[in-house]
Amino acid sequence: MEYALLNGEIIDRSEAKVDVEDRGYQFGDGVYEVIRVYNGKMFTLTEHLKRFANSAESIGISIPFSIVELTEMLEELLLKNNLQTGNIYMQVTRGTAPRNHLFPTGNVPPTLVAYTIKGVRPLENLKSGVKAILTEDIRWLRCDIKSLNLLGNLLAKQKASEQGCFEAIQHRGQDVTEGSSSNIFIVKNGTVITHESNHLILKGITKDVIVDLCKKNNIPVLERTFSLAELGEADEVFLSSTTAEVMPVIEIDGNKIKSGNPGPLTRNLQEFFKKEIEKQCGVLVNNGI
Ligand SMILES: Cc1ncc(COP(=O)(O)O)c(C=O)c1O
Repeated sequence: MEYALLNGEIIDRSEAKVDVEDRGYQFGDGVYEVIRVYNGKMFTLTEHLKRFANSAESIGISIPFSIVELTEMLEELLLKNNLQTGNIYMQVTRGTAPRNHLFPTGNVPPTLVAYTIKGVRPLENLKSGVKAILTEDIRWLRCDIKSLNLLGNLLAKQKASEQGCFEAIQHRGQDVTEGSSSNIFIVKNGTVITHESNHLILKGITKDVIVDLCKKNNIPVLERTFSLAELGEADEVFLSSTTAEVMPVIEIDGNKIKSGNPGPLTRNLQEFFKKEIEKQCGVLVNNGI
């Protein structure tokens, strides 16, 4: 049997139902997290739980559990579902109330749901790299909140897929922001550059790990806005996310990045990232790149 977490209780997943008037369903009025699991252990759990709490707080939802309680519940869920490699999806909404744009008054409890998804590391893409397209960033101006409202991201990702590409790299005018579900990095003359974490992008947990790894390994790294022109002239490009890790980008809009192969600094960062996973979650058996 598969289990899910619903409002503090771990129950049969097929019984985990929410009301048609849940505000997440009707308005996307909630926030979410995706947490990677390797060897049955959650990677960068504290960072994900803090971001979850911050996202919820920034839209006025108070999560009815502490970080310690959430950790215990997620650990139990993992054990019950015997998840070794995959993801935990977790979301909290403003709860169920008669449909009204205004926040419900009175004591409406938030709805908190989590469940697990089996999934191996994307080894083929990590090895060979992926293609991307460029698309105008049409999203709102609070992309730092990991909101359930993902329409702009979905439209971008779908467009990429229809053109045989893995990711859509979004830009506001000449400034590159982020992927539809990833952060974007360029490498120029040995320096790693990625958008500063502000309201225009999601402060990726993977991005932060990569920036730290650069600093620890004496790789020059800058968090600043870069332009489409800089992207076009980059020595290497890669993207990052919880599920994609450090993923080389080898072609954008049909134009190869340099030789069209993953670059050497990207490869080094993949190695450092793998070591970081192993530090937290144990050795990745038969799962190397
Ligand atoms: C829009 C967006 N940016 C960046 C990321 C990467 O964030 P993280 O590394 O925390 O998964 C994601 C992840 O889903 C995302 O949806």
